[in-house]
Amino acid sequence: MSFAYLQCIESRCRLRQNPKRDSYRCSACGGLLDVKYDFDAFDPAGLREIWHRRRLSGEPIDRSGVWRFRELIPFVGPEDRIISLSEGSTPLVGTRGAGYWAGPVHLTIKHQGNNPTGSFKDLGMTACITRASSRNVRMVACASTGNTSSSMAAYAARAGIRALLFVPYRQISAAKLAQALDFGAIVVEVGDTFDEAFQLLREIAPELDLYLVNSVNPFRIEGQKTIVAEMLEQRAWRPPDYIVVPGGNLGNASAIGKALQELLELGFIEKVPRVVVVQAEGANPFYRTLAEGSADLIPVSEPNTQATAIRIGRPANWKKARRVLEWTGGFCESVTDEEILEAKRVLAADGVGCEPASAATVAGVRKLCRAGKIERHADVIAVLTGNQLKDTDYIMRHRSGTEENRQRLSVEPTLEALRRALERALAVPA
Ligand code: F0G
Repeated sequence: MSFAYLQCIESRCRLRQNPKRDSYRCSACGGLLDVKYDFDAFDPAGLREIWHRRRLSGEPIDRSGVWRFRELIPFVGPEDRIISLSEGSTPLVGTRGAGYWAGPVHLTIKHQGNNPTGSFKDLGMTACITRASSRNVRMVACASTGNTSSSMAAYAARAGIRALLFVPYRQISAAKLAQALDFGAIVVEVGDTFDEAFQLLREIAPELDLYLVNSVNPFRIEGQKTIVAEMLEQRAWRPPDYIVVPGGNLGNASAIGKALQELLELGFIEKVPRVVVVQAEGANPFYRTLAEGSADLIPVSEPNTQATAIRIGRPANWKKARRVLEWTGGFCESVTDEEILEAKRVLAADGVGCEPASAATVAGVRKLCRAGKIERHADVIAVLTGNQLKDTDYIMRHRSGTEENRQRLSVEPTLEALRRALERALAVPA
């Protein structure tokens, strides 16, 4: 049996933690923690075969795109109940105009919006809530820009655990809030930013004995890791040149890097793609920190972007993500809200919908190509993290109502008025 333990990520510490306690910080130095494994000796070819065969199985655990790869996340015991909603198994979709626009590059979309609650968070949440359930946790909690909260609410409901979430006041999309409410979570709107809500949650968590499921919880990272095995399997184990993700709290970049490192060490791949993180210009602390070569995080005290999912000024996982970018030779880019909007339009013209934060990836690829950092015709996977319907307010703001935008018409119900309106609308090229 492979064996799991928690270890501090700080190179000067590396303390192994007491396995009886789940925590988010090293008990000695306060550093972030990794779940580490003493893996069994693996036969990669044999395991690939097993994973492939499980796709035909009717067992719920095999149908999950996370638990199908359970040998990579061996922290559950045989007696533990797996809390799954059949997450993962999301499509890889080729692009047409978007790849040309962004580079030209060979741009493929890994669409995580096709998950049970509509975002990539479900991968991490099945792992984390399974862990919480195995520890008989009574109440889980998170601070969120919206997607973590809907995901936590769904998986907690499934596990029969109460869910408490902190969100910044009037700053998350109505659809995400509605999901969390629908799944029965208690929603506390507090503070102006995610960072403020998160800080308050951390302070109150010990008093209320809350189990935090934000991505500082290392078990979240374990679930999110499996996206890499899945995308590689979909590509017959041929790694791309780049994997591009939007950066908020930087859990996703950390998870992808950890997966690549483990898959390399276990002999599944020989080449490692560069991991690229794209932030919104108004909320780009990681970009600033790397650009300045600063040893400490340069936070953004008033983060601001219409891509509300990544409106974060003090990303908790920045050290893990920096490690990933250094190790894979990747980089961080920053894009404006206008560039995000344009990328979202270009994706939509390919029939690919996503929420604004996700479109930041493609905007970032274009910028990096223009700067000569990503080479023309490179093989690029952009991870679209959230579903198009996660933020319909944004779409309505940008797609309807303006004079020059003749997409949404309301017309008097007569043929004459209809003819006039359609003539004007159709005169604008598609
Ligand atoms: N894309 C979307 C759609 C997100 O919801 C998030 C994060 C990210 C990208 C960034 O991922 O934090 O791993 O760097 N959303 C979190 C939330 C913060 O609360 O839902 P990250």
